[in-house]
Amino acid sequence: MALVSAKEMLEKARDGKYAVGQFNINNLEWTKSILLTAEELKSPVILGVSEGAGKYMTGFKTVAAMVKAMIECLNITVPVALHLDHGTYDGCYKCIEAGFSSIMFDGSHFPIDENIEKTKELVKVCKKKGISLEAEVGAIGGEEDGVVGKGECADPDECMKIADLGVTMLAAGIGNIHGKYPANWEGLSFETLAAVKDKVGDMPLVLHGGTGIPVEMIKKAISLGVAKINVNTECQLSFQEATRKYIEEGKDLVGKGFDPRKLLAPGCEAIKATVKEKMEIFGSIGKA
Ligand code: 13P
Repeated sequence: MALVSAKEMLEKARDGKYAVGQFNINNLEWTKSILLTAEELKSPVILGVSEGAGKYMTGFKTVAAMVKAMIECLNITVPVALHLDHGTYDGCYKCIEAGFSSIMFDGSHFPIDENIEKTKELVKVCKKKGISLEAEVGAIGGEEDGVVGKGECADPDECMKIADLGVTMLAAGIGNIHGKYPANWEGLSFETLAAVKDKVGDMPLVLHGGTGIPVEMIKKAISLGVAKINVNTECQLSFQEATRKYIEEGKDLVGKGFDPRKLLAPGCEAIKATVKEKMEIFGSIGKA
């Protein structure tokens, strides 16, 4: 199956009261593990690529070519969207040119009028190409690939202005943070989420910072209109833990245990388990 825009899968998720997971990729192992899990569980999936990860993988063109070829070679039949995560204005155009099927323009650090102006331009381009577009209002806290956010809650009126431009989905800051949540985290602001939902109506909402949010909060967020949840750090942590265990147990020193395909295998299995666990919580299994 060819790459698809995220529009249809998110509208279905919104109507069916579940969420589609966006799992960020860093390399071939991440991509393969996530695609195989989505296929096994018959779940739609969104592969997220930050600008830093795109650069690491030598460029968005490499990423798009790898993902498209992998979908074909692995006979992946579930809907897969390849999505730019927290894109700059220029980065969005690069991904559109490279063949991504979905992009996020993160204009949240601009004054709202500039965010609106730039988002509006991208809406036109994306509509023409059939690509889904995510916009952001109110910053997501923490740091991801050098993008640092203060974590302020979104202004529902500003959300309405951006939603009215015709974007496909909207990320609104509701106290969520990239990376691990600190012990003194106050939790998601459902008050903000409900106020945003009230203003934007049917627009599928996106919850960033999916790592470490308690299950009950995730379920409540879905009931209030969240249809896409982003997970990045949690896959990195499970990969790290499994790889550390393999090496600490000295398995790399036995026989051909140093073979990268063996060395990276436990980490890949750990990513698969994390993706499965998230898909179960999000309710996307069997929804492809
Ligand atoms: P986490 O790294 O906290 O899971 O957040 C991922 C994310 O929101 C990607 O945009």
